[in-house]
Amino acid sequence: MCGIVGYIGFREAWPIVLKGLKRLEYRGYDSAGIALIDDQNLNIYKKAGKVKELEDFAAEKNLSGSIGMGHTRWATHGAPSDRNSHPHTSQDGQLSIIHNGIIENYATLKEELISRGHSFNSDTDTEVLIHLIEDIYKNNEVDLSEAVRLALKEVTGAYAIVVMDEKNPNQLIAARKGSPMVIGVGQGEYFIASDATPIVEYTKNVIYLNDNEIAFLKRDELEIKHLDNVVQTPYIQELELKLEMLEKGGYEHFMLKEIYEQPRSIRDCMRGRIYPEEGKVQLGGLKEFTDKLKNIDRIIIVACGTSWHAGLVGEYLIEEYARIPVEVEYASEFRYRNPIITEKDVVIAISQSGETADTMAAIEMAKEKGATIFGICNVVGASIPRITHAGVYTHAGPEIGVASTKAFTAQVTVLTLMAFYMAQQKGTITNSKLTELLTELDCIPDKIHAALQSNDIIKEVSAKIKDASNCLFLGRGSGFPVALEGALKLKEISYIHAEGYPAAEMKHGPIALIDEEMPVVFIATKNSSYEKVISNIQEVKARKGQVIAIVTEGDVEVKKMVDYCIEIPDASEAFLPLLATIPLQLLSYHIAVMRGCNVDQPRNLAKSVTVE
Ligand code: G6P
Repeated sequence: MCGIVGYIGFREAWPIVLKGLKRLEYRGYDSAGIALIDDQNLNIYKKAGKVKELEDFAAEKNLSGSIGMGHTRWATHGAPSDRNSHPHTSQDGQLSIIHNGIIENYATLKEELISRGHSFNSDTDTEVLIHLIEDIYKNNEVDLSEAVRLALKEVTGAYAIVVMDEKNPNQLIAARKGSPMVIGVGQGEYFIASDATPIVEYTKNVIYLNDNEIAFLKRDELEIKHLDNVVQTPYIQELELKLEMLEKGGYEHFMLKEIYEQPRSIRDCMRGRIYPEEGKVQLGGLKEFTDKLKNIDRIIIVACGTSWHAGLVGEYLIEEYARIPVEVEYASEFRYRNPIITEKDVVIAISQSGETADTMAAIEMAKEKGATIFGICNVVGASIPRITHAGVYTHAGPEIGVASTKAFTAQVTVLTLMAFYMAQQKGTITNSKLTELLTELDCIPDKIHAALQSNDIIKEVSAKIKDASNCLFLGRGSGFPVALEGALKLKEISYIHAEGYPAAEMKHGPIALIDEEMPVVFIATKNSSYEKVISNIQEVKARKGQVIAIVTEGDVEVKKMVDYCIEIPDASEAFLPLLATIPLQLLSYHIAVMRGCNVDQPRNLAKSVTVE
């Protein structure tokens, strides 16, 4: 939630910060603002709405300055408006701040500050923090660096902040606790951002700031301290990210590009991990835990949103192949309900961004109770991979569209690999069966490519149902989480109310909604529940519902009874979720485009949810 960018160096800061904010817009797009210092003057431009609106608003203004910082906001405290936009300033206007996170004790701090004569211009928690810093700075005879450090010691909650001082245009101060922050190290210049995407075109050398660290950046000097005042040795890493990964590459939207990238992203996810001829799966990240895996009693999967749906697919696969009981939990619920966790448990945390606040809190809690934590994450170097005991990256590449597509299929791929890996370690699968499955898995990227060929038909179907107000998605077995994910995609980007249900449960409620206006999407591929799904389709048709069925290539039976059919290649049940998801992604995409929705940045959503 919220993206932050900072620059100090020899170039003009405005274009760097502005471009950086556009890259970080997936983190929130309620408002945007930039602060620059030019000849000892602090200039702040901020505007409700997207970064483009800020750009247009500031077009004719003085935008010079080689030190600057910017913010794109996902509103928590205070409505999205110009005055609640960041940067915020101190009482005297000398200091300014941008902030990602939540200051939980802001109300108490605000009261104290008001009693000491401060007045506030916004409803935000962030403004309170910069006034607190100012208060300490002025009343304690300390320098600004020390004032920031002392203020942060009084604060509870999460933050990634950057502070600028009009009187000192050769210094940026940055700090983090619970919200991500990366520092780009250049020659005579430094960059700061919520992730590496605003930095990659200027330098590949980065430092991931740790929790409770403050960085003091001058043009030619960087010092990092712990909040307890101990100097830290920075660890510079080289980025693997490439600039072209962040561009649309000729597609109209990032989401469409990411849907079409799936044959490649799944191949990348499996690379070096499967050996079909030997019937072997190798997961380097879990190697140290091989013995543990042989003896675990239970796996708990924690995640949010789309990642939670991937977790449900994982449950089917792990129970089927590794015969280990699995529970799948919403991280936000799990963390607050005192769950029973023992040292024998393995918790798998799934997160595309690796920054989701609820998932992180669930991990910390399970860790305290002695569980072993594995992470499945897409963003390399994010917070979650750094707090887990071990893990497996999805390697899907940067996902920019707010609605998750290729990250979901990569998560499912990793879970498939994990299920096979555990089965291999526990001996619950024969080598010949594993060889057969891995040989098929190796061909899944080609089958996804084939599934994408139905795009034109999907577009036609989309045109027929685009004006619906409600839509049902139904599936059985591992087709059920696929139905949930299909419904989530549709509601996220097209704002059509959609629900995913186990097909058999339809008769316990949703059937009441069915009439000729109601599109019902069935996952009706040829697998163990095929016949039963056919009965459910008939129940819908008997009530005049419009049925769209995702079927196995060459199907004739379902075709006879439904309104529209979308074919996917035949595959074993284990791989059904990977294939059946593709047409549902395209369906939501086309419907959203036809309804004129902002596909890549749907209203009210953000890609990285760093607040609980
Ligand atoms: C947000 C995003 C979803 C995502 C969820 C969990 O709601 O819009 O696409 O599935 O957060 O995020 P994570 O990064 O933990 O997978």
